Amino acid sequence: MSAENRSAERPPAESRSAAGPAAESPAAGTPSPGHPSPEGRFESDPAAGDARPYDQGAWWRDAVVYQVYPRSFADANGDGEGDLPGVLSRLDHLADLGVNAIWLSPFYPSPLADGGYDVADYCDVDPRYGTLADFDALVAGAAAKNIKVIVDIVPNHCSAEHPWFRAALAAGPGSPERERFVFRDEPNNWQSVFGGPAWTQVADGQWYLHLFDSAQPDWNWRHPDVIAMFEGVLRFWLDRGVAGFRIDVANMLFKQDGLPDVVPGSQSGPLMPGQTAVPYEHQPELLELYRSWRKILDSYPGDRGTVAEMWFDTDQARPYLTGDGLAQLFNFGLMPTPWSAEEFRTVIDESHRLARETGGSIPWVLGNHDVPRMVTRFGVDQDLVRAPTPEVLLGRMDVDVELGTRRARAAALLLLALPGGAYIYQGDELGLPEHLAIPDEARRDPMFERTLRTFMGRDGCRVPLPWSGTAAPYGFGAVDVPAPGAPDPEGAPDPEDVPGAQGALGARGTWLPQPEDWAGLTVAAQRADPASTLNLYRAALAIRRDHPALGDGDLTWLDTPPGVLAFARDPGFTLMVNFGSVPVPLTRHRDVLLASGPLDGDLLPPDTGVWLS
Ligand code: NOJ
Repeated sequence: MSAENRSAERPPAESRSAAGPAAESPAAGTPSPGHPSPEGRFESDPAAGDARPYDQGAWWRDAVVYQVYPRSFADANGDGEGDLPGVLSRLDHLADLGVNAIWLSPFYPSPLADGGYDVADYCDVDPRYGTLADFDALVAGAAAKNIKVIVDIVPNHCSAEHPWFRAALAAGPGSPERERFVFRDEPNNWQSVFGGPAWTQVADGQWYLHLFDSAQPDWNWRHPDVIAMFEGVLRFWLDRGVAGFRIDVANMLFKQDGLPDVVPGSQSGPLMPGQTAVPYEHQPELLELYRSWRKILDSYPGDRGTVAEMWFDTDQARPYLTGDGLAQLFNFGLMPTPWSAEEFRTVIDESHRLARETGGSIPWVLGNHDVPRMVTRFGVDQDLVRAPTPEVLLGRMDVDVELGTRRARAAALLLLALPGGAYIYQGDELGLPEHLAIPDEARRDPMFERTLRTFMGRDGCRVPLPWSGTAAPYGFGAVDVPAPGAPDPEGAPDPEDVPGAQGALGARGTWLPQPEDWAGLTVAAQRADPASTLNLYRAALAIRRDHPALGDGDLTWLDTPPGVLAFARDPGFTLMVNFGSVPVPLTRHRDVLLASGPLDGDLLPPDTGVWLS
């Protein structure tokens, strides 16, 4: 069967075997009010009332999800790039950390023009990451550790190598094949999100639309083949046991009819009063599409979720969160927020209110593979976060890593104490800073070239994780980290001492170079240090798992001096973070459950967070 047929005509879900990992409902367990029964249905929760459109007990409402960027997580075959067997081999790290689920960024066959967000086959695994059998083994291995797996779906665009796009190029103007994409004889004035025009001309003179890189042609979502193909993709991964999907650029799939020019002054993303949206975001057809996807998810046992990637204002978000559609949008508001109690509070209030009003879920995010790491964001002059200069866009600025680390640790306690779910980006649990010194010739993010090298791109937060040892590749690839709890992490072998470890990577090294000063940040080094960032996350997640006040619910702000945030959550929990520059007294409490740094008696030092009971 040709590759084209394979992706275009997947057999209907009913005809495929249910005997794989899909049969193991990740939601299996003892039913309790508001929690899934073994069949995946929900027992009614009297406290939830009838007003809420979504099940209040759905796992994704208050889950802590860990984002795995597969190319940089762990490399089992020693080729310098991470892979799915690598993730499987490190599940102990994730179980020990205590996360509820992992989200895998794309691992599908791809030329990697945009790190895998250029998908050439939606229903397979790129050979550099492994095989479908490896994927199944990962889902099963994760389920055995009570970790769910969600995968990325990339519906706005595919790769220029996708068989349907190749067929469209070959078939020529006016062909049915071209109608699955957005071909025109003349381009309009739209610009790519990555910089430069959003149109590329092909040999016969027509132009195709790509809101991102030219290697990522946009699908035509008004074409029935596209709708049917993606329904098949959802079913394909649901059948394999995924607990849900992260939907890439979920707000852009449909473009306004007629593809009108962007009006000068109109805005992508959140709008200020009086601003007009660009004609390729938030088109009304999206809501209907997501309702149909929700029906597909709900037709599966267990409790499968979607989380949508989009930047939004509350008016834009409300329709997705209300009713029977997506139900969950990432809460990106904290990522561009500078270290300021007032500015953090504004974002928290607005998002929390939106979630309460709609009954939807807006999990908190402090980092992902698209933004500079928080240690670095919080370690620079915060005016540069408010208004990055051209120098900052190129990574040229002074960073106080020690200060950034203290703040990032305090922010982690805030993140995990807020009502609702939270996402942790791989490496944030290690307090990794952005790698700012990647040589230009080693950069891989298309944004670097498409912005004519005026923006360094996103490679600095995608550097392979350091697992052990004192020099690159820090155990990424060949050296095992001792299992959690194993004695003598000091004794972890140095990569240089392990036969074949460096050799396996060869002169090529890791796909992105790692900094030279990460020896103290490896998983092995941090396991051995009770005060490490890794152990702070472990302790916070362990408390969060058992504490009845944490997870979904409400918060009550407490009166505090300027520069300090404090809220209470019932029963008996208080969070306090000092964003200011002088120590402040701790609010009334019985015990200190956890602190992000040393306390000064009953004083909370600057840039420190604390959980109190
Ligand atoms: C959002 C993804 O997170 C990003 O990495 C990607 O480049 C764009 N969508 C385009 O797919």
